[in-house]
Amino acid sequence: MTVKEIEQLLEESLKSLPDCRVRDAMHYSLLGGGKRIRPLLLFYALNGYGVDEKAGIPFATGLEMIQTYSLIHDDLPAMDNDDLRRGQPTCHKKFDEATAILAGDGLLTEAFYQCARSDQPAERVVKCISILSEMAGPAGMVYGQCLDTLENPQYDWDMLKKVHRYKTGCLLASPLMMAAVLAGKDDAVVSKWQKIGFELGLAFQIQDDILDETKSAAELGKSNSDERNHKVTSVSLLGMERAKQVMEQLYEGCCTEMEQMGDFDATEICGFVRRIAARQM
Ligand code: IPE
Ligand code: IPE
Ligand code: MG
Ligand code: MG
Ligand code: MG
Repeated sequence: MTVKEIEQLLEESLKSLPDCRVRDAMHYSLLGGGKRIRPLLLFYALNGYGVDEKAGIPFATGLEMIQTYSLIHDDLPAMDNDDLRRGQPTCHKKFDEATAILAGDGLLTEAFYQCARSDQPAERVVKCISILSEMAGPAGMVYGQCLDTLENPQYDWDMLKKVHRYKTGCLLASPLMMAAVLAGKDDAVVSKWQKIGFELGLAFQIQDDILDETKSAAELGKSNSDERNHKVTSVSLLGMERAKQVMEQLYEGCCTEMEQMGDFDATEICGFVRRIAARQM
């Protein structure tokens, strides 16, 4: 599945919603750019298992809705207070704070409605929904965002790794775990994918911290606010060179582990992980 095809699915998913300001804001943020990494990971992982991509459509849509909601709320004045996202004004700047909060709420809720409409065997659908809700919720991404907004300046590297694992790793692990479920794999295999996803998430967030420091907001298409917000980051704790080293090792480690998964062709997904590792935005 291409980014363009994923965007067509996202467009389609909002069509039946009542026409109102919140729907407009959901559409604005969901369709306004984004790398679509989480849906792509889901489709690449399904391909690796030889499962028809169609099985992943509702979950890919749900994942990207949750990703977009997390960004809308992350940008709010009470959180990172950012003005630019995905190359355009943040949702609360384009609309207003109340609308942005509701657009996030709407995307989060609608994500699970999309997943529930899957035509896959009910047991697998329930498992996927349970994975996504756990990984996105107060024991997952929300927990990470909570830690990120608390005593962040006092964190050491071990604590920051924990924050990264929850705030970013959980959502990146979900598509890998859901693909294993949709391929009929058991809990032991799903746990292996979770571990790989957490490492991928750690690599991805270290890279996000590096880019925040080395690229302009125009290049990134989003505000680089870590310094303004006095955030402890991978770069402030490890230094730039060490951060890059750790990131590269983690990405390569993920590929090695993906290649070792049984009944799985990792060629395509590893190619994608290496393209992520080389990204400049
Ligand atoms: C941004 O994620 C938030 C982080 C976890 C660092 P992405 O870099 O995947 O953002 P989009 O979805 O492409 O906008
Ligand atoms: C937030 O991390 C990750 C989320 C769970 C939304 P950041 O605050 O570093 O993400 P960016 O840099 O704003 O995309
Ligand atoms: Mg943040
Ligand atoms: Mg932010
Ligand atoms: Mg960041």
